[in-house]
Amino acid sequence: MTDSANTMWGGRFSGGVDAIMEAINASIDFDQRMAAQDIAGSRAHAKMLAAQGILTNKDAEAIREGLLTVLSEIETGDFPFSKALEDIHMNVEARLKEIIGEPAGRLHTGRSRNDQVATDFKLWVRDQLDAVDGALAALMTALVGQAEAGADWVMPGFTHLQVAQPVTWGHHMLAYVEMLGRDRSRFADARRRMNTSPLGAAALAGTSFPIDREMTAKELGFDRPAANSLDAVADRDFALEFLAASSICAMHLSRLAEELVIWSSAQFRFVTLSDSFSTGSSIMPQKKNPDAAELIRAKVGRIFGANAGLMMVMKGLPLTYSKDMQEDKEQVFDAADNLMLALAAMEGMVKDMTANRAELRAAAATGFSTATDLADWLVRELGLPFRDAHHITGSLVALAESKGCDLPDLSLEDMQSVHADITKTVFDVLGVENSVASRMSYGGTAPTRVREQVARWKEILG
Ligand code: ARG
Repeated sequence: MTDSANTMWGGRFSGGVDAIMEAINASIDFDQRMAAQDIAGSRAHAKMLAAQGILTNKDAEAIREGLLTVLSEIETGDFPFSKALEDIHMNVEARLKEIIGEPAGRLHTGRSRNDQVATDFKLWVRDQLDAVDGALAALMTALVGQAEAGADWVMPGFTHLQVAQPVTWGHHMLAYVEMLGRDRSRFADARRRMNTSPLGAAALAGTSFPIDREMTAKELGFDRPAANSLDAVADRDFALEFLAASSICAMHLSRLAEELVIWSSAQFRFVTLSDSFSTGSSIMPQKKNPDAAELIRAKVGRIFGANAGLMMVMKGLPLTYSKDMQEDKEQVFDAADNLMLALAAMEGMVKDMTANRAELRAAAATGFSTATDLADWLVRELGLPFRDAHHITGSLVALAESKGCDLPDLSLEDMQSVHADITKTVFDVLGVENSVASRMSYGGTAPTRVREQVARWKEILG
């Protein structure tokens, strides 16, 4: 039991709280990460209070200067965080009082910790959205670099993880650029929607002081004040949208990570990962493991877990603020840290990896990968309905399989034994280079198309 009542809200209390109460109640261990945002919000609030004649200029100046001192103490690690003071908001204010005395007590005029925490947290998430945007752009640039280098390198394209049709390395890299481009736009979209200021909603109902919410909104880089004070303090959509967009982004990263795990295996050898992004085994000296890729593959678990976790915290909460909402931060912090780490690790891996062109080319020619080209040839040259062409090609594949060879290895006589009208020009479409070059439809894998898309992305990414 602490013996004295809390100096911030203890007026109606005669004694201190139980140590366990303090432990469950305090958020300072984690919400100190929002110190810079808290101080920015308080400085904007003090400035506005003075502009509105609610505080004297002298007091507002003392507060604003004192808050900068507090910030530098926190930044240099000299700040004595106190659990008894619960959270970052009260820790900062209490320290401000020690530094500037009486005027510190005037800072909380016309606001509450409810609008304060919503403001701080929004500012924090907004900073993360900007950081993620930069990290995504960097990863996309690395992928475009790979795509440009290998715009015409042939590799197998897969469905069901079975060889389907030849595609180009560049095309495959750009598929991920498209995904990450959508992620970027989802984050940008969330940023636009969340950019309203809760500050001045006060506890829940607004305030009787003649505050100027437009001013604080502008000061903090928000587009406008949130229009409904109840919603302003009860809303955590911005955190959920961040987590939802992060989950989808992490899911994309996990798919690429999985491909890198498969591709770097001895069975595939499509890529060689650099030593700087691989690890060894403590028992098997020959091993070079793709640990970074595996960890990226796993990150989606905790990030989506955070998303599900916060959804559960928020569901069913009556308006407006409930202390449950203090459970919003750790999951967002953890998800943000891990997403940033995953993006940086993926960027490093993609930049450093070497695509093994010869292995890719050889694999592309296996599995009868140009069977569709053969069927298309029968349609184009012999005027057959596609369904018949499909059937004939199936018979040719079976023939090749029985002979233990690939489609281009069949003789013209073999071909004609299945359909008499086949001519030797058919062999032109059975090579993998011709196959990819022919896929000129918009969005197709032809090197020409890939180079166009590389140019488009380079323009977008600057
Ligand atoms: N530490 C609290 C949180 O993170 C701040 C808001 C407290 N508000 C209150 N009414 N107790 O949610």
